[in-house]
Amino acid sequence: MNDWNRRQFLGAGLAAAQGAPLTRPVRVGFMGVGSRGSSLLRNALKFPVEVPAVCDINETAQTRAAGLVEAAGKKRPEIYGRSVDDWKRMVQREDLDAIINAGPWELHAPMSVETMKAGKYAATEVPAAVTMQDCWDMVEASEKSGMPCMILENVCYFRNALLILNMVRKGLFGELRHCEGGYQHDVRGAFISRGGERGEAGTVTWRGMHAVRNDGNLYPTHPLGPIGWWLDINRGDRFTHLVSMSSKGGGINNYAARNYGKDHPSATRKWNLGDVNTTLIKTERGATVTLYHDTSSPRPYDLILRVQGTEGIYMGTLDKFYFEGRSPKKREAEWEDPEKYYAEFEHPLWRDLSQSARGQGHGGADYIEMHEFLKAVKNRTQTPIDVYDTAVWSAIYPLSVKSVASGSHPVEVPDFTRGKYKNRKPVEIHGA
Ligand SMILES: NC(=O)c1ccc[n+]([C@@H]2O[C@H](COP(=O)([O-])OP(=O)(O)OC[C@H]3O[C@@H](n4cnc5c(N)ncnc54)[C@H](O)[C@@H]3O)[C@@H](O)[C@H]2O)c1
Repeated sequence: MNDWNRRQFLGAGLAAAQGAPLTRPVRVGFMGVGSRGSSLLRNALKFPVEVPAVCDINETAQTRAAGLVEAAGKKRPEIYGRSVDDWKRMVQREDLDAIINAGPWELHAPMSVETMKAGKYAATEVPAAVTMQDCWDMVEASEKSGMPCMILENVCYFRNALLILNMVRKGLFGELRHCEGGYQHDVRGAFISRGGERGEAGTVTWRGMHAVRNDGNLYPTHPLGPIGWWLDINRGDRFTHLVSMSSKGGGINNYAARNYGKDHPSATRKWNLGDVNTTLIKTERGATVTLYHDTSSPRPYDLILRVQGTEGIYMGTLDKFYFEGRSPKKREAEWEDPEKYYAEFEHPLWRDLSQSARGQGHGGADYIEMHEFLKAVKNRTQTPIDVYDTAVWSAIYPLSVKSVASGSHPVEVPDFTRGKYKNRKPVEIHGA
């Protein structure tokens, strides 16, 4: 039995993990070290960690990951991945405190569940789950084992997202009425391989298979993470129901035709995913959220991130604010630039970590996110994003698919906390 198995948690990782902080470096394993997994590994190696084991079924990925660990001056990790199930062997190692998984979406929940069952902290890439059963399995595994499960939703740590969180808490927006966000990112090059590790150029990747099969919001968590925190979802409020509608598709076929010829199988095949999906969610306290998902249109990246309260608004696409009684108003309300708000309301994590985070992934947010996860593992505390956030943000994938398939009928969003959201405290605002 390792430290983690021996440790007793109060209330299933929900009251915060118990036990004395680790006095040695945190030991982290990695599963799925493709594009994102190796970036997470590089990121983690900037902290005092050991990486005793990595798993991937692709040899190039295995070798690269082992090389990254050695290049950081650490012991070469043991490699797993001789079959698609070999990760299950790695989970049983006694020397890991945490496992970060970043493989295909459908593996996130099974890997996280087994990680928690084995008494280790789980961290998973986005979305953490693709079925409702996955979501409930993660909740149950966390509650029973007492181990936390953190979806690595890096947008929660974007500088503007944390600024807004701090300003919401300080009451600048009044009561929140509406949030809007979008995963609007042309990722057709991730649906169809460009060659290399993801398969022969032109073939459908594992990610593309989701777009072949399903129509809905397949990637909800980037905008929904920060919005969930702003609205105190699972911490005072909860999502009650949603409706979802998709436009017709065709964007992926056009992309395939342009790059691989109009008769290529990827150009002629049926992709179920509509080009623009819009999902509208209601909360119990009466706020609404619109979420966009557009991953197959030619367009620059934009997460929107708009928040409207009774006292003012932030519009992320413009990166501007307006507050009644505070912002200038001539005949009409006028937008204000964000600088003075950063000067006054910068989130303490960004105050403390912006120097170290400079130049790191996603404007530094990836560094801050990793810092927060590893800090929880080291201190044996609950992770800042817990299993309930992980489940409900990810659940929008299957729930939106269900609504679209039913002709946009309302679909209930379950309360994964089973009533505990009423008394759970809002996400803590703290420094490094
Ligand atoms: N948070 C972000 O900003 C961000 C950015 C990019 C990707 N992602 C997410 O990261 C995840 C990985 O995406 P990616 O672009 O790196 O994909 P990828 O295809 O480059 O990497 C996936 C890796 O998983 C490995 N794998 C597949 N089956 C496996 C198995 N059974 N056991 C072990 N390894 C296995 C593959 O060999 C591959 O190396 C996805 O969830 C994606 O959505 C998040």
